[in-house]
Amino acid sequence: MSIRKITEYPEPVLGLIGRPVEKFDDELAALCDDMFETMYDAEGVGLAAPQIGLNLRLFVMDCDGIKLVAANPEIVATEGEQSSHEGCLSVGKVPAVVVRPMKARLRAQGLDGEWFERDAEGYAARCFMHETDHCDGRLFIDHLPKLRREMVVNRFKKEKRWK
Ligand code: NI
Repeated sequence: MSIRKITEYPEPVLGLIGRPVEKFDDELAALCDDMFETMYDAEGVGLAAPQIGLNLRLFVMDCDGIKLVAANPEIVATEGEQSSHEGCLSVGKVPAVVVRPMKARLRAQGLDGEWFERDAEGYAARCFMHETDHCDGRLFIDHLPKLRREMVVNRFKKEKRWK
């Protein structure tokens, strides 16, 4: 296992629609081990493959009691609305309020290639949607009004300079 370097905004890979995961083998399992290790090291609750520079539809998460690997994820149903703070390891965890559905149903393949569906609400539902967005080349700041998006990006750039 090893900790991978986290890709940060505005790296182009973060804006690409990921390629589907096709092989469910030991290599994929080892990659997911690295992704979990990288995510825990960065104290995140979810990490998608583009965040370590791979153009792949894949994420791992351990959020609010839900720990899973999702290959080729899609959000197949949503309900309600929630509005709370969200951040991203690729944008220096600078927080911003994002409005999203309260509940979400994730459809994805596990490490064995079997399709599964999982329902979540609140924080974990937010994580399903945030990570699935990454696989579609979307960041949480893409959900923000223009001015708020600029504020987050500027704060991130400023903090990066100070590091
Ligand atoms: Ni993120």
